[in-house]
Amino acid sequence: MQQFGIIGLSVMGKNLALNVRNSGFSVSGFSIDKKEVDAFAEYQDDKLKPTYSWEEFVNSLEKPRKILIQIMAGNPVDETLHKLLPLLDKGDILLDGGNSNFHDTNRRFHEMEEHGIHFIGMGVSGGEEGALNGPALMPGGDEEAYKEVAPILEAIAAKNDDGHPCVSFIGPEGSGHYVKMVHNGIEYGIMQEFSEVYDILRKVAGKTNDEMSEIFADWNQGLVQAYLSEITSEVLKQEDDLTPDHVIDHILNVASYKGTGNWMLEDGVHLGVPISVIAEAVISRFMSKATTREGKEIKWEGEVPEDLIDNLGKALQLSQAVAYAQGFQQLKMAADAYNWELRYPAIAQSWEAGCIIRSSMLKDIEKAFAEGRQLDNMFQDPYFKDLMEKNLPALRKVLELATKAGIPTPTLSASLNYLESIFNPSLPANLIQGQRDYFGAHTYFRNDRDGVYHTEWYEEK
Ligand code: 6PG
Repeated sequence: MQQFGIIGLSVMGKNLALNVRNSGFSVSGFSIDKKEVDAFAEYQDDKLKPTYSWEEFVNSLEKPRKILIQIMAGNPVDETLHKLLPLLDKGDILLDGGNSNFHDTNRRFHEMEEHGIHFIGMGVSGGEEGALNGPALMPGGDEEAYKEVAPILEAIAAKNDDGHPCVSFIGPEGSGHYVKMVHNGIEYGIMQEFSEVYDILRKVAGKTNDEMSEIFADWNQGLVQAYLSEITSEVLKQEDDLTPDHVIDHILNVASYKGTGNWMLEDGVHLGVPISVIAEAVISRFMSKATTREGKEIKWEGEVPEDLIDNLGKALQLSQAVAYAQGFQQLKMAADAYNWELRYPAIAQSWEAGCIIRSSMLKDIEKAFAEGRQLDNMFQDPYFKDLMEKNLPALRKVLELATKAGIPTPTLSASLNYLESIFNPSLPANLIQGQRDYFGAHTYFRNDRDGVYHTEWYEEK
């Protein structure tokens, strides 16, 4: 009998199966696409078993069965559950490792519960390479069921610098997929911040691709030690196969998306979370398609300050912190709204290795939320407050120059505006309230006494 089963053997499912096998557990694989099973069968050995029917697959697994569904999110997951249900026994454990919408996972968790089946919605990050060598995993659902699969998940997960596996139980219902959605929103935010810094480097500082590649590689050793710094450096120096140029100069500048970052924004709007950086990052992808491209190329002819590169590094470091801060702010508001008990240090820790947004800063975030500290905002933590105070002047200078040069900086500017707002005791929303009350008698609260007020703003004539 096999200890673990995987449905869906495209590259993610296949690599996760190999990872399970390489970690010492036996695994069965099944796909409705026979070609995928045939390709999987090439790896067959005493711990890895290809199966060719639903029955053969389910019957090959020891009980309680532990089955990871690693297929395209959406209807295919419901279809798979429908096929599996009659073949399963009470107490079996299903894991959905796709990028499923947390609303679907909430629904499936309760549907499966009615049948006595444990359902774990699990965010998986790290792409193909991570799946094979150690992904970051974000499982949510039933904690008792999680304990049954924990030895396997801990064995296959990436390990952080302390050797701790990047997986821990997230919380109930669809909270695992929620955390993955927030991971992806942060991913969109930080990627857009990088691209704005790249734009300033090439158009204001006049740096070549190879020079920029070096700069990002340096930051990866210092100010911004992050997987995204590493790959940005690699992307910038890559030669093209089709021309003598760098490939970056021939990649069409229209950003695609599968939408998980958009989902974070949707739920952020629903909950009223000020995730401005994530919103700007999502909208920047829309803008990359919508722009008419009729304008002139920007070429900065003014002075290039000597400290520009240093300031850009600091601006990027601080903006990266803002993207994380907004993500954790949304997690906190979601936990309150959905009645989930989320463990923020464990979430930070599970992002420390294996995933796309991994960076050295996550250790500091883990510390900021340690010992059950409930921060409304990550910048209330002394380490991040200090980082903000140290790097704000650099971010301001960078934005001043970008504004003069005419370079759009939606996420970097949103970072500055966020930081200028979060501790501000006198944001001008009193005027909004006055206007609302004026045109619609919407009433307002006062800052000097309790109760709800309305002013008779004008005399009827
Ligand atoms: C990961 C990624 C991954 C995501 C891609 C593409 O954590 O491994 O988040 O799950 O699908 O990054 O996302 P977009 O197509 O929406 O950019």
